[in-house]
Amino acid sequence: MRRVYKPSAGGIHPREASRYIASSAGEALKTCLGDAGIGPGEVSVVAFSRGPGLGPCLRTGATLARALASFLRVPLVGVNHGVAHIEAGRRYGGAVDPVVLYVSGGTTQVIAFVKGLYRILGETEDIAVGNFLDAFAREAGLGFPGGPIVQELAAKGRSLVDLPYTVKGMNISLSGPLTRLKALLKTCTLEDLCFSVQETVFSMLVEVSERAMALLGKEELLLTGGVACNTRLREMCAEMSRQRGAAFNTLEPRLCVDNGVMIAWTGLLAYGAGQRLEPSESYVLPRWRVDKMDIPWRQE
Ligand code: FE2
Repeated sequence: MRRVYKPSAGGIHPREASRYIASSAGEALKTCLGDAGIGPGEVSVVAFSRGPGLGPCLRTGATLARALASFLRVPLVGVNHGVAHIEAGRRYGGAVDPVVLYVSGGTTQVIAFVKGLYRILGETEDIAVGNFLDAFAREAGLGFPGGPIVQELAAKGRSLVDLPYTVKGMNISLSGPLTRLKALLKTCTLEDLCFSVQETVFSMLVEVSERAMALLGKEELLLTGGVACNTRLREMCAEMSRQRGAAFNTLEPRLCVDNGVMIAWTGLLAYGAGQRLEPSESYVLPRWRVDKMDIPWRQE
């Protein structure tokens, strides 16, 4: 099952979101156990997302996980949310040792496994691409979330409007394009703007990903995160990979967006490699970057 908090107005409100999680958790747990056809006694380990993310939401999840692990008398494992996106891509998306383009509301990173860690090779210097699409859609009066609406309108766009192409080394920046877009709202059609947003910003993402692949000699790309649901971005990543003779992997949309499966699977990997978290030590890490989680289940 999947239930998603939708802000009543404006952006996400952390406390409101955490209350939503607390009120949905019981039903979610019951449904998941029911769907899996197992009883609580058959659970052997409890994994939870320890970070990164919004503090109140992470703490709500951690509290539930602690309570559950103590009640069931099973070990607790803390998982990095970004690492979980990648491991889900390796488990369910067919990727083995990819360069990862991880694009979501809060994150825009190019990552690869190098010398024992998932290292960040490039990222946004300001706004994450999902957040950028939401902000543009809000300015244009298109509603939330922005990505799907932008994709729909972009399909009807005809002419490419000139937007800043802001690749900076291995990083990108999106505040410049966002400022320009706000000004262009008065003179261009929404269809053309959405089309131009996708072509320009996605090209920046693909360029940085390709450079990482060339640099590391990895001939495999994994696209994941909520923005990975965008069909144009998928097309562009597939085309770049094809031209390099590289493999392109992504997941079905329900596994690209945030989900419990990715946390559970990564928890199993971590547990299998001996990782455990004492409940008394299981504080959350709202700024936990992917390169700060030990990955003992992978060999170089
Ligand atoms: Fe995510």
